[in-house]
Amino acid sequence: MKNHASLFARPAMRLSLLRMAAIAALSIGFIASVPDAHAASAENGKAAFIKNGCWQCHGFAGQGGVTGPTLAPSPKALSFISVFIRNSHGVMPPYQKAILSDADLADIYAYLQSIPQGKDYKNIPLLNQ
Ligand code: HEC
Repeated sequence: MKNHASLFARPAMRLSLLRMAAIAALSIGFIASVPDAHAASAENGKAAFIKNGCWQCHGFAGQGGVTGPTLAPSPKALSFISVFIRNSHGVMPPYQKAILSDADLADIYAYLQSIPQGKDYKNIPLLNQ
């Protein structure tokens, strides 16, 4: 009976150690990869969003697509987005600095921020008949 308990306890402990390591790695990545101060340009960001293929999964206006989730309007914080983009290990490929510079990343963020909110459907007469 005692052996059973330790059999189940250990993998759980290993998992939480793994999680802690992952969080530590992400924090280090975060410190190392927050883009430098740079006058971000939404126009350059749109070009970088297209050039790097982000639109293929997230849509031209970051509205989301079959594969990628919605990124705009109201994008998440730049710190979150840059950590995600540099370290993604799921369906989305990671974009390291050699491929996507910090400046381009900051510009992409400016582009996502520049995308306007949609109109409230309540103010569109045709949708309220
Ligand atoms: C091959 C398709 C694909 C491409 C290309 C792609 N993404 Fe993604 N992206 C995804 C998917 C799928 C997710 C959700 C994945 C996940 O949660 O692990 C995601 C998640 C994200 C997220 C996190 C969203 C959130 O709210 O959690 C951001 C930010 C993001 N992508 C930005 C970008 C940018 C910027 C580019 C271009 C440099 C890009 N993506 C290119 C598929 C893609």
